Amino acid sequence: MQTITSVSEMQALSERLRMQGQRIGLVPTMGALHEGHLSLVKIASDIADVIVVSIFVNPTQFGPSEDFTKYPRPLEADLAACEAAGVDYVFAPEPGEIYPKGYSTFVVEEYIAKPLEGASRPSHFRGVTTVVAKLFNIVRPHFSVFGQKDAQQVAVIHKMVADLNFAVEIIIAPTLREADGLAMSSRNRYLTNTQRVEALVISRALRKATEMVAGGERRVDRLIAEATHLIGQHRRVRVIYVSIVDRLTMEAVKGEITPGKSLMAIAAWVDEVRLIDNEIL
Ligand code: PAF
Repeated sequence: MQTITSVSEMQALSERLRMQGQRIGLVPTMGALHEGHLSLVKIASDIADVIVVSIFVNPTQFGPSEDFTKYPRPLEADLAACEAAGVDYVFAPEPGEIYPKGYSTFVVEEYIAKPLEGASRPSHFRGVTTVVAKLFNIVRPHFSVFGQKDAQQVAVIHKMVADLNFAVEIIIAPTLREADGLAMSSRNRYLTNTQRVEALVISRALRKATEMVAGGERRVDRLIAEATHLIGQHRRVRVIYVSIVDRLTMEAVKGEITPGKSLMAIAAWVDEVRLIDNEIL
């Protein structure tokens, strides 16, 4: 495995690989890798000749009061995990390599990015689409794998790829959960043992909604009320949103859900830790 930190070196490498007819798969990450990330690598390894994992804590997707500086950066452990997972190249640039002095161009998706995460983190998706567009231009992958855990991110990137004609196939990987249901996330590292137990109510609320739908419930108000009620019983968990949206457009579903097409998305604070999760209903 080779680690590359320079944009020009990465571009030259992908040019060479493409000339040789190699199929390049990109797994973009911000590091602090866990089993969820490695499941994306596994999916990529089934269809790629060459796997590139990018590790870059992207400053432009963090709001001014968010956790950019304290975001975990265990680079050595991440590189070891990538090597063990059979990754060929890690692209791990410094911030100045991606955003040199005077940088002033951004990519903005203006519709799907608006609700949910977009409403509570207004500049978040502008940062995500910008860095992912740059990664696509630098790594030039044939396909890229993203986790369904960040359902809105996946929808926004799909739209960006379609609207800007990127020749990159987007592959969506299912959310990986801990044995107790907690969705895997780099931010779970922030949770103390007690906070972690409290956080379980998020996946429990989603599971309850899927059970209600399996039992025939279709009404959005009832599904949201039940999930909100469950979370409300936990003093240290504060709901940011519990929404049912179209899984592709992120538009709020009114009245009744369409099974398979609607998605319940939850964001909540567990004390000072912000967590998101979702399930297709
Ligand atoms: O999902 C993430 O980890 C990030 O949003 C991504 C896609 C790597 C862009 O920084």
